[in-house]
Amino acid sequence: QAFFKPIQNSASPSSTKRHTKVSVIGVGNVGMAIAQTILTQDLADELALIDAKADKLRGEMLDLQHAAAFLPRTKIVASVDYAVTVGSDLCIVTAGARQNPGESRLNLLQRNVALFSHIIPPLAKYSPDSILLIVSNPVDVLTYVSWKMSGFPSNRVIGSGTNLDSSRFRFLIADHLDVNAQDVQAYIVGEHGDSSVALWSSISIGGVPVLSFLEKQQIAYEKDTLENIHKAVVESAYEVISLKGYTSWAIGYSVANLARSLLRDQRKIHPVSVLAKGFYGINGGDVFLSLPTQLGRGGVLGVTNIHLTDEEMERLRESAKTILEVQSQLGI
Ligand code: NAI
Ligand code: LAC
Repeated sequence: QAFFKPIQNSASPSSTKRHTKVSVIGVGNVGMAIAQTILTQDLADELALIDAKADKLRGEMLDLQHAAAFLPRTKIVASVDYAVTVGSDLCIVTAGARQNPGESRLNLLQRNVALFSHIIPPLAKYSPDSILLIVSNPVDVLTYVSWKMSGFPSNRVIGSGTNLDSSRFRFLIADHLDVNAQDVQAYIVGEHGDSSVALWSSISIGGVPVLSFLEKQQIAYEKDTLENIHKAVVESAYEVISLKGYTSWAIGYSVANLARSLLRDQRKIHPVSVLAKGFYGINGGDVFLSLPTQLGRGGVLGVTNIHLTDEEMERLRESAKTILEVQSQLGI
């Protein structure tokens, strides 16, 4: 006996709505924070989880499935076999070693590049039309590695980059000026790491350029106040890692923010790690680093051409050099 008695002409219309599938590779602190925000924000019809640890993977899948009564209906699957990711629209890679307290992101390179040679090729095989969103660190170099290993066009290989650093920057500026962080438009660009660059000259609050905002509000500031805010951004992760052992919540929301722009074709501008060669005078090799980039269903739609001061341009080129120096060790 069917549960439901069909009403007249109740044949379901042929579903033309696109089935959106997201795969998250790595179900550690970061992968699960991302999975949770994707479910809560109803960004996917299907969520596939992958990890090397079978028991942890099944446990995380079951634990999320048990929340079904409180979440939008989403099919949740998991396997150590990459076939489970087949037909993904977006593959988010968080697998890999994380920093020990005091350790730099760049220090993780050799360990995580080795893992990527087992992760990226199967993802590309099972979802040849997907967008790869890289989170594992060092994210800029690993995004370059993913681009090379996947053979995807560069518009479909993106690193979460300084979307997270820029959120920290906006929080600190908002806190300093007692305004809402969502009214602070501010970008950190370059390396997601120690050589990131704060674009002070383009910061605006409610549409008012920050420096004139401060003058209008008679808020005295010295250059080193601004520099201290950027320094605090660079130190954020080290502080959180020293206190709780890892970072997870902010990156979870940051990646869901990117996933929404990509999957819902928001055509929104985010500072994310893209193939930067040829932009802002960055040459000297194929380097991925964060620039303000328009994101939509096709991935990278374009890189914005914002004004940088000479000092900002110089710092950005230095950041590119730092990444390229580390990347050159890979020989790929
Ligand atoms: P974690 O140790 O909690 O999780 C890593 C997961 O990767 C583990 O579950 C492990 O089993 C899995 N894994 C390892 N090798 C694998 C393989 N070959 N295939 C599939 N899964 C594999 O680490 P956590 O805290 O989640 O950090 C993960 C990565 O994300 C680190 O590299 C960390 O630096 C990075 N991260 C990046 C951020 C960013 O802003 N880009 C922010 C926070 C973390
Ligand atoms: C961060 C490090 C872990 O949280 O990449 O910024």
